[in-house]
Amino acid sequence: MASFSSISSLTDHVASLRETISDSDEYRRVMANQDLESFLPVYSGIEEGIHQIASRIFNGVSLSVVSAPSFKGLSGSVFYQVIDSTTRKICCLAKVFPEDRSYEFLDEVYSLKTYGEHSIRCPKVLAVGLLKTEEQKRGVLMEEMIPGNTLKYHVAQLSDLKNSEELKRLFNSFGKFIAKFHQQGSTTIGPTDSYVKDHFLGIIENALKELEGADEQICQYYGIKNKTSFIQFLRKYMQHGNDLMKHSAPRSFIHMDCNFSNFIYGEDGEFHLLDTYWGAFAVDGKKAPRGVPFLDYMQVINRLGYLYNDGKLSSHEYEELKTQFQRGYKTIGVIPESEAQNFYSFIDAMLLLGGVTKWFHHGAKELLGNCAQYWVAWLEELRRLDEEKVVSSTVA
Ligand SMILES: Nc1ncnc2c1ncn2[C@@H]1O[C@H](COP(=O)(O)OP(=O)(O)OP(=O)(O)O)[C@@H](O)[C@H]1O
Ligand SMILES: [Mg+2]
Repeated sequence: MASFSSISSLTDHVASLRETISDSDEYRRVMANQDLESFLPVYSGIEEGIHQIASRIFNGVSLSVVSAPSFKGLSGSVFYQVIDSTTRKICCLAKVFPEDRSYEFLDEVYSLKTYGEHSIRCPKVLAVGLLKTEEQKRGVLMEEMIPGNTLKYHVAQLSDLKNSEELKRLFNSFGKFIAKFHQQGSTTIGPTDSYVKDHFLGIIENALKELEGADEQICQYYGIKNKTSFIQFLRKYMQHGNDLMKHSAPRSFIHMDCNFSNFIYGEDGEFHLLDTYWGAFAVDGKKAPRGVPFLDYMQVINRLGYLYNDGKLSSHEYEELKTQFQRGYKTIGVIPESEAQNFYSFIDAMLLLGGVTKWFHHGAKELLGNCAQYWVAWLEELRRLDEEKVVSSTVA
């Protein structure tokens, strides 16, 4: 079937790029300028194209394609459901990526395929294609629909139903699931892979560039009193992180966008990963893992922190869910030392601050809530502790 062979031509293509490009910035530039038409089948129109692809996958079944606006995330991708017209069952989903983010499409397909080969639970890739309209050419990923609800949905139930025992159990098994994901495909421990290090430092550099260009209104909103000295501290801390990445750490696949809408607790009673393009850089050209799992671990803890800061969890609920996640995680995962915890939270902070600052005047603060302000307060506290340390070592 044409659509299946195009999945392997796409993943072979991505793998060969990863083998040949050793610098992560360069890789992103190359990925953003892909000529998708040369290795993907082209279809005309969005819904018509999806229908054609789906008819090949589900040969002989009468199908309809309907838009699924409730699946829309922040990335600008749009979803369609392919429905069996006779049984009304959902056969699969089509995720249509914006044209200017087709590199995310390539990365997502590559990581989903790799994870599937390592038996990591995530949607199966059924087909890929290029949907062409007069205005745009957009990558489409036809994927298995996972029946169930996101972890975000389950957390929201807590305030509605005070369903706390169930949620504690879920966070314990979520911890085990993430640790198992981190354990697949590798047992290597060592300094951070140079490509990954470069990628992390790139995230920090990007946020610093955005913050340097931030206007008075942004600084006031974040609560930054003295931008120059704030940025000076961030640069100093970045250097500290650079040194820290020379220390030994596990090497693993990572997700890198651990917000709770990116995990489904399936009707099968198991967790499944969604939305995997962010962490795809941690899958190398041989489909082996090269990321640092500490980032994901801290992202989960920090997302629980957002809920607490937003008043959606009481301090008791926050502590309980965090403890359950940690208990589940450490059954087979490695919990980072406090210095590494701070540094990987720092990367998490930079990832968010870079994005919010860039899109601040285009609605990012409304979409992402108060996280940027929490991060600035956290960074100020980190700076205070750092200064205290310097003072006490000088006195000693
Ligand atoms: N395969 C799937 N099975 C079931 N639900 C899905 C699937 N893919 C996506 N969804 C639903 O659609 C939502 C958005 O999906 P996804 O995270 O892939 O899109 P996105 O646009 O990249 O999102 P964001 O940028 O906000 O993270 C998910 O939170 C989930 O509710
Ligand atoms: Mg998502």
